[in-house]
This record gives sequence, C-alpha cells and structure tokens, in this order.
Amino acid sequence: MSLVAGALIAGAAAAEPQVEVLHWWTSGGEAKSVAVLQQEFSERGGTWTDMPVAGGGGDAAMTALRARVLSGNAPTAVQLKGPAIQEWYEEGVLSDISDVAEAQGWAGVLPEAIAAHMKCDGAWCAAPVNVHRVDWIWANAKVLEDAGIEMPTTWDEFNAAAEKLQGMGVVPLAHGGQAWQDATLFEVVVLSLGGPEFYRSALVDLDPEALKSDQMKAVFEQMRTLRGFVDDNFSGREWNLATAMVINGEAGFQIMGDWAKGEFVAAGKTPGEDFLCASAPGAGFLYNVDSFAMFEVSGDDKIAGQKLLAELIMGPTFQETFNLNKGSIPARTDVSLEKFDSCAATSSQEMAQSAEGGSLLPSYAHGMALRGAQAGAITDVVTAHFNSEMSADEAVQMLADAVANSM
Ligand code: BGC
Repeated sequence: MSLVAGALIAGAAAAEPQVEVLHWWTSGGEAKSVAVLQQEFSERGGTWTDMPVAGGGGDAAMTALRARVLSGNAPTAVQLKGPAIQEWYEEGVLSDISDVAEAQGWAGVLPEAIAAHMKCDGAWCAAPVNVHRVDWIWANAKVLEDAGIEMPTTWDEFNAAAEKLQGMGVVPLAHGGQAWQDATLFEVVVLSLGGPEFYRSALVDLDPEALKSDQMKAVFEQMRTLRGFVDDNFSGREWNLATAMVINGEAGFQIMGDWAKGEFVAAGKTPGEDFLCASAPGAGFLYNVDSFAMFEVSGDDKIAGQKLLAELIMGPTFQETFNLNKGSIPARTDVSLEKFDSCAATSSQEMAQSAEGGSLLPSYAHGMALRGAQAGAITDVVTAHFNSEMSADEAVQMLADAVANSM
C-alpha cells in the first residue's frame, strides 16, 4: 500500500463513522432485521442516517438511487444486488472495499458463487448479508388441515388444493398485483414446471428457442390458472399484506421468497405448527443474495462509515441475528444454523445439493440473473399476460420479441 493510501485509511479510522443507508426494508420482519445493523453501527460509535424507500422488490428504491446519483449526491451505502452492482461499478461510482474484505478473509468464508457477485474487475465492491431462497410455497397450517389438504408436491396437486379452498370460500393464493410479484410467481413456475435446465436456457441464457417453446406455453398456462386463484382485491397489494392474509387464515397459500418467513416469525408464528414451508415442486434452488455497495464519497467520516458498515455486515454474529429475523440463511458458510428453524435447514441442505447438481440458479425476478434491460423486458410481458386475457401463444411470441429488442 502506498504511503498516501495508508495515511488515508489511518485518517478514516480516526474519524467518527457516518453512513447514509438506502434500502427497501420497511415491512415488519425487514425493519426488525435492519435494526440489528443500525444498532451494531451505533454501538461502534457510528451515526446512521436511514433512507428507507418502501416498495417490495426494491424498484422504487432503485429509482430513488438513480435520482440521487444523477444529482451528484449518492447515499454512502446502498442495498444493491446481482448484475446491478457491476452496472453501477461500470459507471465509475462504486468504492473498492477490498481492504476490508481482505483484512477479514471474506474469500475464505463465502461460497464462490456468492463471492463472484460481490466482485467488480477483481476488486470487492459489495458485501453480502444473506441468501434468500425464492422458490417457496407458504401455507397456513390450520387452513390446510381444516380442508384436509396436504402441502402440494406437484402443480396438479397445488391446483386441486387451490380449487378445494376456493370451494370453501378461502382465497387460495395470497398475491399482490405488482410487476415484481408477478415475476416472482413466473420464475418459480419456470423452474418448477420446466426444470433447472429449462430455467437456465430461458431466464439466464435467454435462448430464443426456450422462450418460444411449448414448455414456456405451459408455464403461461399455469400462470393463467394461478391468476384464477387470487382474490379480486389483489391489484397493487404489497407482498407483506399478502403474507398477512396467510397468517390470519384469509388465504391458504403464498408463493414468495423466504422474506415472507420474516413476517410469519415477526407475527410470533412457528413453522411446522402455525405455518408450513415447502420448496416448489421439482429440483433446483433460486437464490437471491442481498448485499450492500458503497458509493464513492469524500470525507474521512463517510469513508470510515463505509468501512465499518462493510465489516459489520460480514460479521458472523450479525449474520446470525439478522438472518434469524429476515427469513434467509447467512451468506457466510461458517455460521452455525443451530438456532435456525426447519425451513432454514431445508434451504441450507437444498442449496448445497443444488450447488453440487448444477441447479443452483440466480433469481431473475430479484435482479440476480440479468441486467436491468433484459429483466425489465421479461417482466413487462409476464405482467401484461397476468393482467389480461392474452393467450399463452401470444405471450411466448411477445416474450421472445421483447427479449430480442432489449439486447
Ligand atoms: C429482497 C428482500 C426483500 C424483498 C421484499 C427482495 O428483492 O431481496 O430482501 O425482503 O425483496 O422487499
């Protein structure tokens, strides 16, 4: 390290750490989780300025980020993930946090696939907090028991169970009509019905043949079936309000990533007793890793804040407490899962199996698989289909065209 760089770090270390954090963790479970980080930050003498931007999936947060960066006033730390990290790095606005990563040996405690998402041109440019799994089905245990329904293990079983609930006056599927939630359902059906190879061809490699295939038509047909299982008030509903419908027994199922478990747990519910979790039918695991990137700033206090935040995010105790609240599992492989529940144990085992079997796949709906333009093109078609009478034939053609035009 040069003398100048050494002096800068020493100067930053002496300053009082300041951080302004842009994130979209505003639901009950999410707020409890981020509070853990705020508390650790202030215990270490830092001042945290919170910039929460409500809106599940983070679309509104990303719009707010763009506005802040364009006005030359980027927040110091931002919840950012997947290829968006590299996209922002290419804009020349992200800080290199390799000094913290190397001092703390991140490379030795992160799975390679996760570490790769945190690197930009070989440098560390983001810090991961967790691994969320997207392909889950959640259910109210009592609602299922009263209906004499087992947790479904195929889509035929799911459809039959949903029809039964509908007949009993229970909303079968709690869903919020927002583009990212439609996209979440869609990618789960793509993986679950089509299998890992199909998911990879269609939503990672964007193979036009896969996008237009009969398999993709079957996916859109299942989406049409699912549309029939949501209630009339679904439009615009936030995901956590959909989870609340399952918690209070108004609805039977929700198909959502395991941030939904954060809501069940925050409501005092126990897995296996009050609610059930099952991975969606079939093989594979859709991962969604939350992480934070630091935007380039000047000022020793801000630089010290970024370094402290990066250090805390990857701290083993923080990763345990945070993920117990958040519904995810730690990104670090050396954190014991002893205090975690059965859903987390399933997640961890199936993640390891999928990694071995080549079916550990990035979530497109949560920004892990594709760049913004391609992901947006797919989501537009998915949501247009879900909210209209569009046929599966028309949908696959539109999908292939939209993807081609986005390249
Ligand atoms: C994020 C989660 C968050 C969820 C709902 C996902 O994209 O990865 O951390 O809880 O959106 O807002």
